[in-house]
Amino acid sequence: MAEIVTVSRKAHFNATHRLHNPYWDDVRNEKVFGKCNNQNYHGHNYSLIVKVTGEVDPETGYVIDLGVLSQIIKEHIEERYDHKNLYMDLEDFRDLNPSAENIAIRIWLILRDKLDDRLSLRIELYETERNFVEYSGPELIK
Ligand code: NI
Repeated sequence: MAEIVTVSRKAHFNATHRLHNPYWDDVRNEKVFGKCNNQNYHGHNYSLIVKVTGEVDPETGYVIDLGVLSQIIKEHIEERYDHKNLYMDLEDFRDLNPSAENIAIRIWLILRDKLDDRLSLRIELYETERNFVEYSGPELIK
């Protein structure tokens, strides 16, 4: 019987954003989002932890080659988001508030597409040291 192990890789990117709902007026945006609604944007040093779970390959001893995983993260996440204004520089959040929740979902979808179907994926995204979100794919709240 194959053993199931989770392997993880950390990554970082710096980006600016602003929380804003274009369908609300300025007063409501300010009330709900506070400082995060600052119209000139603000930055975060995002930390990302990517967790991949699967069977250990008996020939390599790997779940996934961490060199391959780190390259996928670098190419598709870090190069995409690092030193970017999430609203102005990318299509990703034109119609989607770039909250940590929505960024995490977006990152998960990008990475999910690059990984073998036999592997499961969970990510943690830290917006600050104390504030972070986790996402492991669509599921219904029971
Ligand atoms: Ni923020």
